[in-house]
Amino acid sequence: MNKKIIIAIDGYSSCGKSTFAKSIARELKYIYIDSGAMYRAVTLCCMRNGYIDHNQFDLNAILNNLGRMQVWFNFNNDTQVNETILNSENVENEIRGIEVSAHVSKVSQIHEVRERMVELQRQMGANKGIVMDGRDIGTVVFPEAELKIFMTASVDIRAQRRYDELIAKGDKVVFGEIKRNIIARDIADENRDISPLRRAEDAIVLDNSRMSVKDQMIWVMDLIEKRINAG
Ligand code: DC
Repeated sequence: MNKKIIIAIDGYSSCGKSTFAKSIARELKYIYIDSGAMYRAVTLCCMRNGYIDHNQFDLNAILNNLGRMQVWFNFNNDTQVNETILNSENVENEIRGIEVSAHVSKVSQIHEVRERMVELQRQMGANKGIVMDGRDIGTVVFPEAELKIFMTASVDIRAQRRYDELIAKGDKVVFGEIKRNIIARDIADENRDISPLRRAEDAIVLDNSRMSVKDQMIWVMDLIEKRINAG
């Protein structure tokens, strides 16, 4: 498998996109990019500088300072994980917290933020050999990607997976709330004006409700081999 391709993975939240995308990248020795982490890093920067809090959303301040927000990734050889870097600082843990989660969907709706993130994402994929996951990768970022996958799973299964994950982390959570949050995020992702979550026409749907990661890998490696050999 010498020819390098771009693999775009989009889909609903809590579908296991990042686990799947990371496994593919590891197998192929490709770069893995979590595009959601970039929107989270910008959100964190806005929060730290006081442009966003529970009472305000200072769009002008965000736009005026966007050029100063540098977001990229560092591959940590020890943990074998790509860490999100904001202006030279590793923010990988902080961007996953509930504060950032509460504000990120609003920040990701700002046209100028998306423009800048998409530009950076395209630079990261310039040499191909990349697996990127998100909401608009196959439709906007890499419409020419050789392989596009659109992931989905039933709401109950996604809620259960998220619930198990949070319980394992020691969080006190209620299943019904998790499920409501997933439904609300689906609606927000699909209905926002700018780059809404859509299946690209040429994306292959993967419903992993009843598939293990191993099953998914067998399925996708076969597809990848075909795509690489096709060109
Ligand atoms: O995948 P995630 O939950 O880490 O994404 C964080 C937020 O960023 C979520 O509100 C969806 C948004 N997002 C986006 O608009 N476009 C992307 N390509 C990736 C994420």
